[in-house]
Amino acid sequence: MENFTYCTPTKYVFGRDAELQAGTEARKSLMTKVLITYGHGSVVRSGLLDRVKKSLSDAGVEYIELGGIDPNPTDPKVREGIELCRNNNVDGLVAVGGGSVIDTAKAIAAGVPYPGDFWDFWAGKAIVETALPVGVVLTIPAAGSEGSGNSVITLLDGMHKISLRTEKALRPVWSLMNPELTFTLPPYQTASGIADMMAHIFERYFTNTPAVEITDRVAEGVLKAIIEEAPKVMERPDDYDARANIMWAGTLAHNGICGTGRKEDWVSHFMEHEVSAVYGVTHGAGLAVILPAWMTFMANHHPEKVAQFGRRVMGVMSHDDATAAMEAVMSLKAFFGSLGLPVTFAGLGIDKPDIDLLVKKLHENKGNIIGGYYQLGPEQTKEIYQLAL
Ligand code: NZQ
Ligand code: ZN
Repeated sequence: MENFTYCTPTKYVFGRDAELQAGTEARKSLMTKVLITYGHGSVVRSGLLDRVKKSLSDAGVEYIELGGIDPNPTDPKVREGIELCRNNNVDGLVAVGGGSVIDTAKAIAAGVPYPGDFWDFWAGKAIVETALPVGVVLTIPAAGSEGSGNSVITLLDGMHKISLRTEKALRPVWSLMNPELTFTLPPYQTASGIADMMAHIFERYFTNTPAVEITDRVAEGVLKAIIEEAPKVMERPDDYDARANIMWAGTLAHNGICGTGRKEDWVSHFMEHEVSAVYGVTHGAGLAVILPAWMTFMANHHPEKVAQFGRRVMGVMSHDDATAAMEAVMSLKAFFGSLGLPVTFAGLGIDKPDIDLLVKKLHENKGNIIGGYYQLGPEQTKEIYQLAL
């Protein structure tokens, strides 16, 4: 096991009516005037936004609003939010939504106190040292941004979708998680979220670091629970306990616990971010396509850990690693298929992906050689994209 620092300062308030604590939590974190960020109206239609506003008002916290944030959020909304905060003396953010809304709030939080262009952080030209506090009311278990220090933003100029990872600066100070808020999710978003949280575990699980039995078993346990709970939420969207388990799984998948003491991989995410940047697909659905392709490549080149996943999580019996790894890929594809997710580019609605463009952008953004579990250059990543056809 490798040395590690594990820092998760986020306070999670989990359960029914959790959103009603927005006001008191904002006060406790010394917010007096906040910017509320939200997406394209799901939180308006459900009445959630009004409940959050009332909670803030009751606690004496003023607010202004920034709605209309797109899935796969882009830099103009961040710039708009930074201006709004500066012009209105805002001292905190409350994100009401999913990864796109939370990541935009985090980017605004980083940008407000920074004299330069906020993109400097995403471009690797500056490090986030200070940021406004961000509180979250989560509506979709998927990206794990409610517990992560990451923010994923696309720069429209060049369609560069980049994940900024901070150890602490951009972790939410509090996240309010009411599983009932997820009852209204469309099945495709529920399923995509499940693929995303599984991917967050895989990116950490596939490692060559030896002697990481604890985190291997934590990862396998969470994966097994997700696979058991997933059909329940697909069949009964208002099954509180199944929704609650899936919601908490999404946080555990990405708040760092599964990555302690080990090198991580992240190639599937890097490859998918190019797909969602260029084609605008839902991130988790893109991962349901890329992950099996990546695993198929590994079954042929470095099958050991894929085989372990197959035996311990998917019930694969074969003794030979390459065979067990291929069986793991087949059962993962079947699982995604059972949730109604695509497992090929065509299924995603992309009949003729521009693979050369994806490969070019991928290595421009991430370097010529990528990957912790197995190092991949442009020839290999091209092969993986082709395996997803
Ligand atoms: O915009 P509204 O109307 O709110 O609708 C949203 C949106 O269309 C809808 N939705 C959310 N909650 C709902 C709901 N509809 C009905 N009922 C509800 N309760 O779902 C759609 C997707 O929302 P979005 O916020 O985009 O989903 P998600 O949480 O999957 O976030 C995806 C973004 O997060 C990034 C992804 O790349 C993508 O940009 N990621 C962020 C990470 C992080 N910060 O740590 C890590 C991830 O790997 C990921 O890359
Ligand atoms: Zn993800």
